[in-house]
Amino acid sequence: MTLSHLEASGLVTLPTPQATTRIAAAVRGRARTWTPVCAYTDLLPERGACALVDGHQIAIFRTFDGALYAIGNRDPFSGAHVLSRGIVGTRNGEPTVASPMYKQVFSLVTGVCLDDPDVSVPVYAIRLNDNVVEVGR
Ligand code: FES
Repeated sequence: MTLSHLEASGLVTLPTPQATTRIAAAVRGRARTWTPVCAYTDLLPERGACALVDGHQIAIFRTFDGALYAIGNRDPFSGAHVLSRGIVGTRNGEPTVASPMYKQVFSLVTGVCLDDPDVSVPVYAIRLNDNVVEVGR
C-alpha cells in the first residue's frame, strides 16, 4: 500500500505542505539512515510513543491531522526522558508537546522551547513507508 492509497482510504492525512517544508528544512542536509519503529496504526492520535533508535530515545507523535513528528525524548530542563509522555497541543497553529516535568512547551516542528527559545531538543526526520513509521538519523 502506498502513502496515497492510505490517504485515499482516510487512514492517513498527510502533513500540511507548510509543516512538511518546515520539517524538511529542519532536517535538511543530514546523512539519513531510516529505522522502522512501529506501524502507523500503533500510534494513537495525540499520544506520544518512545522509540530507541541507535541508542537514542526518540519521542514520536501522531497529531489529530495525521501528521508525524519526532523529537528527542529528553526534557532539557529536568534531564528526564519524558517528552513522549507530554501533553500534545498547538500554539499559534504550531503542534507542540508540554513536558510532564515542569510544563515547558516545545514545538514538534522545530524542537524549540516556546517558553525559552534559547533551549531546544533535536528534531528527527520521520516518514511513512507503507504502514511502517520510520525515523531518519
Ligand atoms: S523511556 Fe520512553 S518515556 Fe521514558
